[in-house]
Amino acid sequence: MAYSDKVIDHYENPRNVGTFDKEATDIGTGMVGAPACGDILRLQIKVNESGIIEDARFKAYGCGSAIASSSLITEWVKGKSLDEAAQIKNTDIAEELELPPVKVHCSILAEDAIKAAIADYKEKQA
Ligand code: FES
Ligand code: FES
Repeated sequence: MAYSDKVIDHYENPRNVGTFDKEATDIGTGMVGAPACGDILRLQIKVNESGIIEDARFKAYGCGSAIASSSLITEWVKGKSLDEAAQIKNTDIAEELELPPVKVHCSILAEDAIKAAIADYKEKQA
């Protein structure tokens, strides 16, 4: 199986690895698992008063494609509103990283995690 240079770059130099304080009111946390393989991804967003995502962090207990997908999505969500971030599709990630078909579910993990993080943030504001 051949991986694109972009996957390898994100895998070797993952962006935005780490954690925010899960209890903080400006943080949304999404934790999702991939049924296909058992990998787990935690993705967090930090949202400012204007509702813009100003920072993001992730931790992936998973494969290289999950790490690359997470790394990419943390870069993509920065500067976006919650609604804009919710519109990111796994197919956009898979296309950008040129993921092979058996690894497309790794990008679904990233999409699901960002949606879960947004939902968590909104729940906290309610
Ligand atoms: Fe996810 Fe092997 S199946 S790391
Ligand atoms: Fe399952 Fe990548 S192999 S998330």
